Amino acid sequence: MCGIIGYIGDKNAIQIVLDGLKKLEYRGYDSAGIACLLNGKIKTVKCKGKIKNLESLVDDSLKQSKIAIGHTRWATHGKPSDENAHPHCSGSIALVHNGIIENYAEIKKELQTEGYKFVSQTDTEVIAHLIRKYRENNLSLEDSIRKAVSRLRGSYAIVIMDDKEPDKLIGVRMESPLVVGISDGEKFIASDVPAFLNHCNKALFLEDGEMIVLNKEGFRVYNLEGKEKKKTPITITWTASMAEKGGFKHFMLKEIYEQPRALSDTIRGRVLSDQGKIVFEEFGLTRDEMRRIEKIYLVACGTSYHACLIGEYIIENIAQIPVEVDIASEFRYRNIPFEKNSLFVAITQSGETADTLAALRYAKKFGVKTLSICNVLGSTASREADAVFYTHSGPEIGVASTKAFTCQIVALYILSIGLSIAKGVFPKIFIKNLLEELLLLPRMAEETLLLDKKIQLLAKEVYRKPNFLYLGRGVNYPVALEGALKLKEISYIHAEGYAAGEMKHGPIALVEEGFPVVFIASDDLYLEKTISNIEEIKARDGFIITISSSKEEKLKKLSDRFIYVEGINSYLNTVLFSIPLQLLAYHVALLRGCDVDQPRNLAKSVTVE
Ligand code: F6R
Repeated sequence: MCGIIGYIGDKNAIQIVLDGLKKLEYRGYDSAGIACLLNGKIKTVKCKGKIKNLESLVDDSLKQSKIAIGHTRWATHGKPSDENAHPHCSGSIALVHNGIIENYAEIKKELQTEGYKFVSQTDTEVIAHLIRKYRENNLSLEDSIRKAVSRLRGSYAIVIMDDKEPDKLIGVRMESPLVVGISDGEKFIASDVPAFLNHCNKALFLEDGEMIVLNKEGFRVYNLEGKEKKKTPITITWTASMAEKGGFKHFMLKEIYEQPRALSDTIRGRVLSDQGKIVFEEFGLTRDEMRRIEKIYLVACGTSYHACLIGEYIIENIAQIPVEVDIASEFRYRNIPFEKNSLFVAITQSGETADTLAALRYAKKFGVKTLSICNVLGSTASREADAVFYTHSGPEIGVASTKAFTCQIVALYILSIGLSIAKGVFPKIFIKNLLEELLLLPRMAEETLLLDKKIQLLAKEVYRKPNFLYLGRGVNYPVALEGALKLKEISYIHAEGYAAGEMKHGPIALVEEGFPVVFIASDDLYLEKTISNIEEIKARDGFIITISSSKEEKLKKLSDRFIYVEGINSYLNTVLFSIPLQLLAYHVALLRGCDVDQPRNLAKSVTVE
């Protein structure tokens, strides 16, 4: 996820673009850049780091420019660096891009054989060269862009400038947001409304497959075949701070709602479901290296540790490799006799958690092969591990992890399938099914979000309760742990997660009339046993909240509140069940007047041991 902006008008374009980038910094902040037109030539300034670094490099002379584009980056391909920062240029073209081009490697190869020189490791640079190539074949700027994007697979929002057409900015969108700000004598184009809300409140949201041509005075919208479309701007009623959160009250809620997109970006380009294959290179491990793995250590902290516990069930079932899971802060105090052909996997959203890094270094010291599953490109964990698999959740700002967690589960699901293929554990058709089911996940996550209203009502009934118990069996046991952690950390209610079968070995002593117990149950072979546990709570007058993909009548009857979630398979249901649990924690915390995005005593990235 990155933030992009463009401006054309009579004002100081550089200042407007820099101010707009600051409003988009929540979308990414590892590098930034701008390009403007001055005296008929494109001038570019870009650098690694935050927008304030960029600001200090901008020469006052550039502030004469009336047309500019800018970018704040959340790296996906190529580490954060000056060269990989946008804009990317080729000939008369400069552009900024948000999204992922899946087939960039093959296009890059083709362009390199034709003599195009690449200066970055990004997927974006191919777009600049492609547009230039068609432009130099005498196509108009619009046609060159259309032809270039017809070659791309993946997602993109792009804003393009051409020094041969100094009165024009062009934007084009496919599966990444792009919105245009309309004002008399000036136009804005950006990833999100806050980038220009201080200047105008008339906006036009582009749809997938639309291209907009902007000049100071007006705009024209086309489809990708070049046919003009009529579109009418709407009036935005948000305040600037509301808009930064996309209209959501908190970053946490916004990030919960971003999950369909985050999941889809994490799956994109890694899975060839029609062929029943995964892209092994995405793990930085060859198929042969995967085939040799005999033991896996999954290590992390907090929510990421819960993803590891889910991963244990998934990998042991799908890849049939023994897995050991540990909390990072404990891992290195053990004296582990590492087995031959082991793989150590560090799971960390930030890539900077001190305990997880210490555990990673400990494993490396013993010569164990290491992989990090990480959300931040160029972070310490991604650099220090032998291999890295990125979750493409985009920046997670709310302290309570939501979208990063569900994307970690997806990463582990894909890893388990990769290992299973490499080892030939299951027939092709079984693997193909698992991959096809994975592709359903983003849409099913979107449907699960429709439960929000129902969860809000539930929150109203329970937000004054002082204690909660969360119970699940099998792969849903760690889902219960995560549900309890989410509630505890943002609402300050005491909550415990337990394996449902373990309940009668202690925690059941807590249960009395009205004590809330949240059950998480898939429609699988554990269901009967979970129903028995529910009966045990019912007999003690507990208040039973069930989140399940089963429509079993008995389950519904026993539950005081029943939340049905349309499921996919037991492994992927862990992602879907996590959504109502996140929403429950969010609404309860809100009703209790807590600071949802910055809970007391917590920090987003724990860089001390
Ligand atoms: C809880 C939460 C934390 C993190 C933990 C590890 O909502 O976010 O428990 O999961 O601090 O952080 P990362 O994944 O960055 O290593």
